[in-house]
Amino acid sequence: MARILSIDHIGLAVADGAAAAFWQALGLPCAGNEAVESEAVSVAFFPVGATRLELLEPLGVEGAVQKFLANRGEGVHHLCFAVDDLRGLLAQLTAAGVELVNAEPRPGAEGSLVAFIHPRAAHGVLVELRQHGSPHEPTAGSDERIF
Ligand code: CO
Repeated sequence: MARILSIDHIGLAVADGAAAAFWQALGLPCAGNEAVESEAVSVAFFPVGATRLELLEPLGVEGAVQKFLANRGEGVHHLCFAVDDLRGLLAQLTAAGVELVNAEPRPGAEGSLVAFIHPRAAHGVLVELRQHGSPHEPTAGSDERIF
């Protein structure tokens, strides 16, 4: 039985650098950022104790985060849980009839594998599942990355 280990990060959709300045003013240092071109987003991490904030800033007019901002404005975009067995958990969820955005793990940042649960299945919350340092090789969509 796959297990949820922790809240890995909280994803926040932001319009521009003003959000990063706010969190830094609160005393949270930025631990790094990277552009994820395939998702048209720039990602910045702000560690908070055992978890992190993940700021998602659109790189252009395309992409899911820009669409989110246009529809809903800045705010909480997703919750990410660290899991010990992503494939196992996806199989459990599929068997339980839970609607997934990604039925197969996708390569994420830092050598992780990730998959998203559809917010329709999670009562309005976009849920990211993340397995750190997975020994599994990515399969479908291995050229793509997701935040
Ligand atoms: Co995320």
